[in-house]
Amino acid sequence: MTYARIAGTGSALPERVISNAELAARVDTSDEWIAERTGIRQRHIAADGQTTGDLAYAAAMAALQAAGVDAKEIDLIVLGTTTPDLVFPSTACLLQHRLGANGCAAFDVNAACSGFIYALTVANQFIRAGTAKTALVIGAETLSRFLDWSDRATCVLFGDGAGAVVLKAADEPGILSSHIHADGGYKELLWNPVGVSAGFKDEPNHGLRVLMQGREVFKVAVKTLDRVVEETLEANQLDRHQLDWLIPHQANLRIIEATAKRLDMPMDRVIVTVDKHANTSAASVPLALDYAVRSGKVQRGQLLLLEAFGGGFTWGSALLRY
Ligand code: COA
Repeated sequence: MTYARIAGTGSALPERVISNAELAARVDTSDEWIAERTGIRQRHIAADGQTTGDLAYAAAMAALQAAGVDAKEIDLIVLGTTTPDLVFPSTACLLQHRLGANGCAAFDVNAACSGFIYALTVANQFIRAGTAKTALVIGAETLSRFLDWSDRATCVLFGDGAGAVVLKAADEPGILSSHIHADGGYKELLWNPVGVSAGFKDEPNHGLRVLMQGREVFKVAVKTLDRVVEETLEANQLDRHQLDWLIPHQANLRIIEATAKRLDMPMDRVIVTVDKHANTSAASVPLALDYAVRSGKVQRGQLLLLEAFGGGFTWGSALLRY
C-alpha cells in the first residue's frame, strides 16, 4: 500500500501586522470586543503589490527546504485559494514556473477556508493511486484585498498568509484518511457575491467584499465540525483519546474550543494561532501546522487531526501520522 507522508512544512506571513487597537482607530470596535468574541489579537496584511503567489512561493520554498526536496522532483502542485493572483493562469501555474518545476501538473482549488484540506485530499488521492510521487500542497490567501475595511463585522476577522506541505509517497502512513464535504445551499450565509461571470457592481472595490451572517455561520460551523471529526474517528476506528494534536481551522477561538471539547482534548493539545494570524482562510491550517512543527510541539510519529470549515459551505478533515 502507498501512502502520502508529509516530508516538510513551510509558511509565510506578510511583515505588516495590524493590531486590534489599530483597527479600533478606523472602525467602531475595540480590542476587548474582538479578543473576547474571536480570540484574535492581530493579523498580518500583505503589502501593496505583494500577492497570494508571492506568499505561496515563500511558503513553498520553506517546505521544500524542510523536506530536502528539489523543486524539479515535484510532479503535482495543488493550491487552495479564494484570492488568486489572476483569473488565469492559476496561481499554482505561476508558482510552478517560479519554482522551476515546469512540466508537472498544477492547478488551484477554490473551497474557501477548507481550501487546504481539499487540496491535501486531492494530492493524497494522486499519491495513493500511484500517479504522483512528490506533491506540493499549499493554502495561500490575500483576503485583505477584498475586505470592506469600513465593515466592523467582517474586517476584524481576517488576515493574509500562506502555508505549504511537501507530500511524498511512502510505505507507511502518512495520511490515514480525509473527508471532504460541501453544501451549496448555505451560500448566502458567507459569500462574496460578485465575479467575472456574474458581474461586478458599481460600488467601492467593484462590490468585492465578504458578506456574512456571523451568528448563523458560527452555529452551523460548530455542528458541522462535530460531525466531521466523529466521521473521521469512526472511519479509522479510533478513540478520540488516541489523538495527539488537533490542528483546526483558525477562524474563532470559541469554535476551536467547541471542537476540542467534543474530542475531550485539553487546549494544550490544540494548536491555536488565530490570536496572531486571524482567519487566513485556506492558509490557516497549514500555517498552524507549520507553526506546530517548527515550535517543536508536533513530533514525528504523532497522530494529528486537521479540520476546516468555510464558505460554500465547505468542510473537511484529515487524520495523519506525522
Ligand atoms: N466590534 C464591536 N461590535 C461589533 C463588531 C465589532 N467588530 N462586529 C459586530 N458588532 C456588534 C454587532 O453590531 C452587534 O451589535 P447589536 O447587538 O447592537 O446589534 C453585536 O456586536 C453582536 O453581534 P453578533 O454578530 O451577534 O456577535 P457574535 O457574538 O455572534 O460575534 C462573530 C460575531 C462574527 C465574532 C461570530 O458570530 C463569529 O465568529 N461567527 C463565525 C464567523 C466565522 O468564523 N466566519 C468564517 C468561517 S470560515
